[in-house]
Amino acid sequence: MKIAISGKGGVGKSTLAAALSLLLAEKGERVLAVDADPDANLAAALGISSKKQADIIPIAEQVALIEERTGAKVSQYGQIFKINPEVADIADKYATTHKGVALLVLGAVEKGGGGCACPENVLLKALVSDLVLYKNESLVMDMEAGVEHLGRATTRGVDMMLIVVEPGQRSVDCARKVIRLGEEIGLNSFKIVANKICRDSDEGFVREAFPRLEIAGVIPFSNEFRELDRSGKSVLDGISSDLRERFEEILENL
Ligand SMILES: Nc1ncnc2c1ncn2[C@@H]1O[C@H](COP(=O)(O)OP(=O)(O)OP(=O)(O)O)[C@@H](O)[C@H]1O
Ligand SMILES: [Mg+2]
Repeated sequence: MKIAISGKGGVGKSTLAAALSLLLAEKGERVLAVDADPDANLAAALGISSKKQADIIPIAEQVALIEERTGAKVSQYGQIFKINPEVADIADKYATTHKGVALLVLGAVEKGGGGCACPENVLLKALVSDLVLYKNESLVMDMEAGVEHLGRATTRGVDMMLIVVEPGQRSVDCARKVIRLGEEIGLNSFKIVANKICRDSDEGFVREAFPRLEIAGVIPFSNEFRELDRSGKSVLDGISSDLRERFEEILENL
């Protein structure tokens, strides 16, 4: 199962990505969780300690690796470099494993114009294609609101794009935009996860906004998440059975 998770900032993408990754790992699956959001916070949601987080260097900042694989210097223009760098070993070498989940942090590429062909970007693109198309493990990709990291070629490898929506108009508008962009590059399987739901009318609002899409799950608003976040614990650590079941239901609905 290869899942991409998108949605507006702050809606709960990393919470969902971490919960699904941890549940898959508990079931004995090999899971690769990819933080493809430039404002990376999946490590924290997985409960990786801040000390261990400080040791994680995103792939986009691994200058030696980028230069070795692309044959070009980072931050220099007008160079010739390999457009199909070797990437197959990167996930194994650079992932941080925690509670059975291998986490790979991609990091941000300084954008020198739309879709810049800088060595960092070329390496990241090749890496994402490799993860989506050729790796056998379950993949959970925590993305920013968009499809930046999924090229046309990789869309056939992604089984599902989950879009997290909270019951607000801006979140709905953003989700619609993500769906439109996704469709443009050939993605055709979208499901909605309604998050931070406080009452029936919240759930109704999200359902009415996406009448043609399946709602893969509904997660209530809960202070448990805030407390886990503050205490540096994973999103499932000691969570109430009701909330845990909500995430399990989502996995079943995929
Ligand atoms: N169901 C929920 N109830 C209450 N708080 C929640 C819920 N889901 C997520 N949160 C909280 O909302 C905040 C944002 O969640 P999270 O980091 O998962 O969102 P995100 O979409 O990944 O954000 P970003 O766009 O910044 O990466 C966190 O503090 C998280 O604990
Ligand atoms: Mg996030």
